[in-house]
Amino acid sequence: MLIALFPGDGIGPEIVAQARRVLDALGIDGLTYEEGLVGGAAYKAVGHPLPPETLDLAKRADAILFGAVGDPDCDSLERHLRPEQAILGLRKAMGLFSNLRPAKVFPELADASALKKEVASAIDLLIVRETNGDVYFGEKGMRKTADGLREGYDIMSYNEEQVRKIAHQGFHAARARRGKLCSVDKANVLETSQLWRDVVIEVSAEYPDVALSHMYVDNAAMQLVRDPGQFDVIVTGNMFGDILSDQASMCVGSIGMLASATLNDSNQGLYEPIHGSAPDIAGQGKANPLATVLSAAMMLRYSLAMPEQADRIEAAVARALAGGARSPDLGGTMSTVEMGDAVLATLN
Ligand code: IPM
Ligand code: MG
Repeated sequence: MLIALFPGDGIGPEIVAQARRVLDALGIDGLTYEEGLVGGAAYKAVGHPLPPETLDLAKRADAILFGAVGDPDCDSLERHLRPEQAILGLRKAMGLFSNLRPAKVFPELADASALKKEVASAIDLLIVRETNGDVYFGEKGMRKTADGLREGYDIMSYNEEQVRKIAHQGFHAARARRGKLCSVDKANVLETSQLWRDVVIEVSAEYPDVALSHMYVDNAAMQLVRDPGQFDVIVTGNMFGDILSDQASMCVGSIGMLASATLNDSNQGLYEPIHGSAPDIAGQGKANPLATVLSAAMMLRYSLAMPEQADRIEAAVARALAGGARSPDLGGTMSTVEMGDAVLATLN
């Protein structure tokens, strides 16, 4: 099994290094690793955020473990050369459309949540976010209006096939959990969302055992803070999912804790923490590596069919937290490496 390691920018290399240590400690036979350049690091080295060799490695690999991309030095580059294009390009080129972002409170961290402890403790949800379409990939550009004003535009669209595919993912996920699916859209305003809602309802006929509900995205943002325990699986589009998953992370305690998987039709997956490259703390050993470590666990579960090894990592993270391991984002002082050490110390 080949794993592509793409550390990327900012804190990416530090956090991926800790995930790699944990993977190595599992002693799994037959795992090989190849490292590739992505993001600003790739741009600086070879002039493109997603060089052809990197894409080729990604396609050959069984799974990709990704750190983060984003580099303030690159902010003024043309959009197609910006670091973020690495992740967007990989999602698109490999058909990675089903982005799974679980959010669950570790009991030890309920105090770190921005919410009251009783409210936060109830969080156990999964956001299923579509990542191949929507306003992210529509036609975009800058133009002049008839009055000579500068105007930026990004076209939002979904076709029914895209919605159908992600709806099935949502229903499947709900079936494997508590049987509740909430589809989030903005059907009171957007045609894209009207189609989304119609198609989700059509697909629901195949899943009579799943309780489907619909929520407008503004209300969903409010409900996530008011009563997040009501959600089991949320299925939503690319843009709304981007926003709601950051919000969910803070409800859980820290954005440094949330892992994600993005799968294609052949179960190839890209695994990454949902947080960014945090250039402000890069290279200082302050980053929390646990979201990346937990992403490695998701990788073992979804792309490598090694659920026991995934359980071992998740259990070790829970024990490390129970034992008091806290990086600065969790209110502690432990360094990135010390957090890695804490997980290794309880891995069995
Ligand atoms: C994410 C990130 C990306 C996104 C950025 C880096 C392009 O915020 O994975 O949530 O918007 O999808
Ligand atoms: Mg995001």
